Amino acid sequence: MTAFLFELLVPLSLGFFTFVALGDPGTVPARPQGNSAVEELMKVIDSPAGDIEPPDINRLCTTTWVMKGLRTKYCVQTGACVEEFDHYCVWLNNTIGKANHRQFVGLAIVEFFTQVTHVRLCMVTVMSLIPYQSFTQWMWGAITSYPLLTMIVVIHCVTAPWVLMLTLHQSRLVLMNLTTNEMMNMHRYEHFWTIRQIGPGHSSRIFRNPFNKGSGVANCLDFWWHRTRWQMVAQPQPLEGGCQKQCCNHSH
Ligand SMILES: *[C@@H]1O[C@H](CO)[C@@H](O)[C@H](O)[C@H]1NC(C)=O
Repeated sequence: MTAFLFELLVPLSLGFFTFVALGDPGTVPARPQGNSAVEELMKVIDSPAGDIEPPDINRLCTTTWVMKGLRTKYCVQTGACVEEFDHYCVWLNNTIGKANHRQFVGLAIVEFFTQVTHVRLCMVTVMSLIPYQSFTQWMWGAITSYPLLTMIVVIHCVTAPWVLMLTLHQSRLVLMNLTTNEMMNMHRYEHFWTIRQIGPGHSSRIFRNPFNKGSGVANCLDFWWHRTRWQMVAQPQPLEGGCQKQCCNHSH
């Protein structure tokens, strides 16, 4: 049973690995000079004023000349703007973004179980090769007779917990509808904060995730199925009641 599982998980791991390492993470193609977001910006600015809201110049990527969505980020390592940028993975030598994020999480899950089944297979093998009398005798026998196999088990036991942690971290972010990049940099992303008056002359920054689809289940479906993570949800105005009106009349 374990052997069968292992034989199933290994090609699955390799498949996900190849997909994520070699596939496109969701790159926004760079735009040539003369037909870039700069010219479009100019057109909007030059157009008769009034009806069109001016675009946010800060969203212009000055390397690839595209207008970045709120979840698009320029990746320094690969030199490209990636939609729904999560992070750059050193092991895969690729960015994790809109087009490979699901496969990346899939890889982390499958990878963990591949390692667990391999450790179990190694254990069963050594059990049948070295008759068990006492733990130290058995352990010593394994190390001296099968050093390579022992080393592989040790490497698994060191790395598998990390893979599990990564899987749990990613699952948590999926439930919250956040990316790793947003988790690290949200303090400087204005769209995650609203200003609320908490008293005369006092206001505080309140965190609210505009991409949150309402519940953990909805965010899971959004990630695995609907794939509208880039879409913002209309936020209900924070309940401030009558206080806000009163407070706002006094300026300090
Ligand atoms: C990593 O990816 C870049 C492209 O983004 C490529 O040029 C480079 O050769 C890759 N490095 C390795 C070790 O595969």
